[in-house]
Amino acid sequence: MSEIILVIGASGQIGNELTQKLRAIYGNNHVIASDIRAGNEEMMTSGPFEIIDATDKETILKVVKKYKVSQIYLLAAMLSATAEKFPQKAWDLNMTSLLNVLDLAKEKHIQQVYWPSSIAVFGPTTPKENTPQKTIMEPATVYGISKLSGEFWCNYYHEKFGVDVRSLRYPGIISWKTKPGGGTTDYAVDIYFKAVEEGSFECFLAEETRLPMMYMNDAVNATIQLMRASPKDVKIRTAYNLAAIDFSPKEIAAAIKKHIPDFTISYKPDFRQEIADSWPSSIDDSEARKDWGWKHDFNLSSMTKDILNHLKS
Ligand code: SER
Repeated sequence: MSEIILVIGASGQIGNELTQKLRAIYGNNHVIASDIRAGNEEMMTSGPFEIIDATDKETILKVVKKYKVSQIYLLAAMLSATAEKFPQKAWDLNMTSLLNVLDLAKEKHIQQVYWPSSIAVFGPTTPKENTPQKTIMEPATVYGISKLSGEFWCNYYHEKFGVDVRSLRYPGIISWKTKPGGGTTDYAVDIYFKAVEEGSFECFLAEETRLPMMYMNDAVNATIQLMRASPKDVKIRTAYNLAAIDFSPKEIAAAIKKHIPDFTISYKPDFRQEIADSWPSSIDDSEARKDWGWKHDFNLSSMTKDILNHLKS
């Protein structure tokens, strides 16, 4: 049986590239893109698109029935920095959308669910380096609270109702096609655009702030690999730790300087510094590597080269 996939939040940073990769694998008409707003031209012309508000279960169900959807990738969410400004809205969006999709799976309308978690599930009391899969989790942000709660809802629906839901704790995801919005790790995307356009960048985190990060290509591959793994290999039904690289603003600036020697960076930490300080600086993802064979391809220098090549052309 061939899968029919619905991506909710397809116009966002990860949704956009994930949708195009899924269309390349499963066929354009097998991947329904959806978002609260229209996507870019490639998205709108390469396959079906539906407007969906992820908090509205009836609309999701209608689309599921219309296309006989078998899997949902739920990427709609409010990220960490914006969520601190709109706590109630963030909680409503992040939780209602997840429970909507989990319920559709419980009611057997769909067979499989992907939902992303985040390094934000960890907090100031978590061991900062090589943060293990199982450890102290006391998140200090609204976003982190919603992701940690979401992880346990996923596990609960799996245990009680047999729902096949899979999840990854994404680090900061770095891309050049679509910009993120409202996250604490967004600086590591903006820095490339500013380096190419203006030759300088003012960073909202301090120079030594080390955070776990990953290139978009790796994030998309990890996601699809987890979803295609045999159910017996998916042993964690909260969410898997996932890692590739970690660096500080100072180190990413140095990597850019190798290609743009005149590039300069200055630092003006704002409220996002406190969020970043509460997160791990590196992640131990050995369970993902052991259970379903996760491997990353890009390091800081190969990612930097790839992004700058794309942005310059
Ligand atoms: N990149 C996200 C953020 O900064 C973390 O999951 O909010």
